[in-house]
Amino acid sequence: MVRIKRITPSDGALYAQEVALREQVLLRPLGLDIHKFRDLFPGYEDRFEHFVAVFDHPSGERVIGCALLLADYPERGIGKLMQMAVDPQRQGEGLGRRLVVEVECRAFGELGLRELFCHSQKGAKGFYEKLGWARDGDEFSEAGIPHLKMSLVAPDEEEEVE
Ligand SMILES: CC(C)(COP(=O)(O)OP(=O)(O)OC[C@H]1O[C@@H](n2cnc3c(N)ncnc32)[C@H](O)[C@@H]1OP(=O)(O)O)[C@@H](O)C(=O)NCCC(=O)NCCS
Repeated sequence: MVRIKRITPSDGALYAQEVALREQVLLRPLGLDIHKFRDLFPGYEDRFEHFVAVFDHPSGERVIGCALLLADYPERGIGKLMQMAVDPQRQGEGLGRRLVVEVECRAFGELGLRELFCHSQKGAKGFYEKLGWARDGDEFSEAGIPHLKMSLVAPDEEEEVE
């Protein structure tokens, strides 16, 4: 059974596994590691809300997916979804969807944010679209890779617009 949990960098073993997954799936392909990532986002590692997908292994919990939420960024009421990654051996099982839904519930529910956005690698655009996110603006380059801004407005905000 896979569970989605919220952890912090002080959750030693689970955080170490989250970092290893981010390095494997997202950072190393860009020539980065967690130290370089921390340099790019100084002080943010503790400010992120860390969501992980875990399953029980006889040797303990194993992290097989992760996502970060940066609330009230770049301004109050907006949140950024970052570092979305699923273990390559477990992709296509719905774990990415579960992680994003958990982030949406936290952002639009408890935190009361009005909008979420992310910088999606172009190849992941369809994943966010399947979850109801919409493209917002033109393609741009980030870390030398084509990206798109994808965003989702809180359900309540949509009703107010209609
Ligand atoms: C992108 C990623 C997070 C998706 O996670 P996942 O667990 O494999 O996705 P899910 O199984 O939850 O897929 C949910 C839906 O999105 C679709 N989907 C998944 N990845 C997709 C992609 N790259 N393009 C189009 N659709 C995609 C699935 O087919 C599924 O559709 P369905 O509801 O019709 O079955 C994962 O593949 C990953 O870590 N990729 C490498 C890193 C990456 O690109 N991260 C995003 C950086 S912005």
